[in-house]
Amino acid sequence: MLYVGVDLGTSAVKLLLMDGSGKIEKIVSREYPIYFPHPGWSEQRPQDWYEQTMEGLKELLADCDRSQVAGISFGGQMHGLVILDKDDQVIRPALLWNDGRTSEECDYLNNVIGKEKLSEYTANISFTGFTAPKILWVKNKEPENFARIAKIMLPKDYIAYRLSGVHCTDVSDASGMLVFDVKNRCWSKEMLDICGIREDQMAKVYESYEAVGNVLPEIAKELDIPQSVKVVAGAGDNAAAAVGTGTVGDGMCNISLGTSGTIFISSEKFGVDKYNALHAFAHADGHYHLMGCMLSAASCNKWWMDEIIGTKDYAGEQKAIEKLGENHVYFLPYLMGERSPHNNPNARATFIGMTMDTTRADMTQAVLEGVAFALRDSLEIARALGIHIERTKICGGGAKSPLWKKIIANVLNLKVDVIESEEGPALGGAMLAAVACGEYASVEEAAAKLVKIVDTVDPDPELVAKYEERYEQFRQIYPACKGIFDVIR
Ligand code: XUL
Repeated sequence: MLYVGVDLGTSAVKLLLMDGSGKIEKIVSREYPIYFPHPGWSEQRPQDWYEQTMEGLKELLADCDRSQVAGISFGGQMHGLVILDKDDQVIRPALLWNDGRTSEECDYLNNVIGKEKLSEYTANISFTGFTAPKILWVKNKEPENFARIAKIMLPKDYIAYRLSGVHCTDVSDASGMLVFDVKNRCWSKEMLDICGIREDQMAKVYESYEAVGNVLPEIAKELDIPQSVKVVAGAGDNAAAAVGTGTVGDGMCNISLGTSGTIFISSEKFGVDKYNALHAFAHADGHYHLMGCMLSAASCNKWWMDEIIGTKDYAGEQKAIEKLGENHVYFLPYLMGERSPHNNPNARATFIGMTMDTTRADMTQAVLEGVAFALRDSLEIARALGIHIERTKICGGGAKSPLWKKIIANVLNLKVDVIESEEGPALGGAMLAAVACGEYASVEEAAAKLVKIVDTVDPDPELVAKYEERYEQFRQIYPACKGIFDVIR
């Protein structure tokens, strides 16, 4: 049988076709625009997601035996607020995970309701990108839209709804809404009250590997696939990527270098970060995970390459980088503010340390290193919680760069396991579909059978020591700049 994984990302939707043995048959990708209506705001049109997903599905399935398609599932950008009216029409563009407009609402949640209560109800505190502060923002700033809300959905769930007609979500993605009781895997009545919404406005919650229904007859016809094709709940992109990299069960780690950068630690038991700097979410394997999320990761390199130095030759630029661990230039990667661990939407990107002999390669290197240092900030929180990690998987667009993987291995002092496919969320989505269709008994079984490690980048003790010194310097830059970030808004 054939399984489709849909990774509804921020810059594009990526679709992957996998057979029952885990062989990837085809991958296609379709872009859509992102809108920044004000500095720090970011929006997309759910209609664009749907149109490009349908076009992508047609291209993906064009040359296969479509009668063999059994299931479709998802990994999706998390936290985005999609609001539908009573006729299931989209009320306004979606506010995305990296949108920083909700400072006031976050302050209200964290300081008036209080972090302790939030953590008790949801296992997390408020960050500007989370969904609850966005709901409050619409309530406060667009009351006419708020009054029309019949359903609140997350990005990938809107696509699942268009394909199946079911208002659904899954435990991993729901965890990032701050209206979900992560420990008990259900909506939090207290949080719904705080946001002024009713439970019937929320979608039905499924485990990530559960089918929510079948494709609608009109979808089956348009795609020329059987009506029996299952639509499977899927997961937030990080949990889906974890499935796709075999980061399931206890104590496994995955780093995703996509538009965002995340460090994801799987856990069989529910646990909360006492500092609330890491997110405590449900995992797609039926268990839990902790995660640190930086808002701009591979997007920093893309911005630096495409917008600033104006080249598409990423590998060529990286060839000129020779002296690892000796760069005097530092880059704070906060192009969209920062989530983990600083929780500061006003933070901004900064280069510091240039001299007359600084080269273009030093600046490029600083961008790659700045992202690695910022990931290490989250890893240090996990280490302070007593979590011991020796190795990590890696996925996402940035993981294609051998140099970046080497920098990450040495800055974080982790063995980096490279897997056969870097297509984390799309592959994870297809694997969740295969589990729901009975091809594998569990997510763990699918991961054990399908994920193959093809290489490991080992940290080099000499380079680790050099980077240790650099990291100590890096971590002094944000506190020194913090006051300025509030002034230069
Ligand atoms: C995770 C997060 C991002 C988005 C990116 O908390 O906000 O990783 O899911 O797609």
